[in-house]
Amino acid sequence: MKNILITGGAGYIGSHTAVALEESGYTPIIIDDFSNSEKSVLVGLKNILGKEVKTYEGDCNDKSLVQKIFRENKIDGVIHFAASKAVGESTKIPLRYYSNNIGSLLVLLEVMKEYDVKNIVFSSSCTVYGQPDVLPVLESTPRKEAESPYGNTKKICEDILHDHVKSKAGVKVIALRYFNPIGAHPSSEIGELPIGVPANLIPFVTQTAVGIREKITVFGSDYETKDGSCVRDYIHVLDLADAHVKSLEYLDSKQDDFIDIFNVGTGNGNTVLEVIKAFEKVSGKNLNYEIGARRAGDIEKVWANTDKVNKLLGWEAKYSLEDSLRDSWNWQKKLSGMEE
Ligand SMILES: NC(=O)c1ccc[n+]([C@@H]2O[C@H](COP(=O)([O-])OP(=O)(O)OC[C@H]3O[C@@H](n4cnc5c(N)ncnc54)[C@H](O)[C@@H]3O)[C@@H](O)[C@H]2O)c1
Repeated sequence: MKNILITGGAGYIGSHTAVALEESGYTPIIIDDFSNSEKSVLVGLKNILGKEVKTYEGDCNDKSLVQKIFRENKIDGVIHFAASKAVGESTKIPLRYYSNNIGSLLVLLEVMKEYDVKNIVFSSSCTVYGQPDVLPVLESTPRKEAESPYGNTKKICEDILHDHVKSKAGVKVIALRYFNPIGAHPSSEIGELPIGVPANLIPFVTQTAVGIREKITVFGSDYETKDGSCVRDYIHVLDLADAHVKSLEYLDSKQDDFIDIFNVGTGNGNTVLEVIKAFEKVSGKNLNYEIGARRAGDIEKVWANTDKVNKLLGWEAKYSLEDSLRDSWNWQKKLSGMEE
């Protein structure tokens, strides 16, 4: 049983990955400071897995705490999810974003070196592509200047990982560039838990459907897309979680000083309006939405070329947009006490 440290493991993607790891024979160990998650996630994990996931509460910028975790457990690999992730907020408090997102990676790499732990999977994002010139976007596409401090932290962290590998530090790295994770565990025990007003489309949609939000504004109707609204590649969080398990397996087959980058998306793009229509169909609810002005900083369209991840990691997305929306909807109903 290999112990995998999941930083930010109480968060949205981390918690689903903890389940995927446990189900694949790994032992997940979580560190989370609960700055963007709730303790109830640990209860959800226990209900799904039938046992508690070992969890350390604290900041992974705290080197002595990270050292303590490595001392107390034989860590075989790390998945580094912990980061601040709100694009808009990052433009208001950039230093906190640089300090949290970059600082935590540096601490982890230092402690991994100290304890001779080689494997790390890093959460990057399709935001590093900006608006790609060619779609679907390939991993080899040059990255664009970041639109936000958040996006820049992802670029910088990728660069740090490249430099670390180049220095012959003896590590093996995969950076996964996530597209747009949505959905929830089908048990509705865990899912996306936005704190405050959601910045992402799907929680806004589900919260509107239950009346927490009055209406959805579709930002822009004059983009060069089939219906004028923005296009994204929406991927079920269970598929995304599985990509982390496949990444760890792949790293095991590699020699030291290895790094590679993979897109993790479905390979399909859907417009905001298509998502709204699909949600209405899945939920049987009519959504109150309006068309508004474009939002500054939004990318017009992006979806993944997934040939590389399909071929090398042997991974592909299994769930449809409808599956994802159904699971998000069931999760929202559970949160809102609307279970049948
Ligand atoms: N959700 C997305 O749309 C998306 C897309 C691309 C990339 N990502 C990246 O994936 C990762 C996970 O995203 P998520 O959606 O699960 O976010 P999330 O906010 O739900 O999870 C992150 C978790 O990390 C914790 N955390 C933050 N800073 C910490 C620190 N210094 N020490 C300990 N814990 C800390 C938070 O409390 C939270 O539980 C992040 O790195 C994010 O940037 C997310």
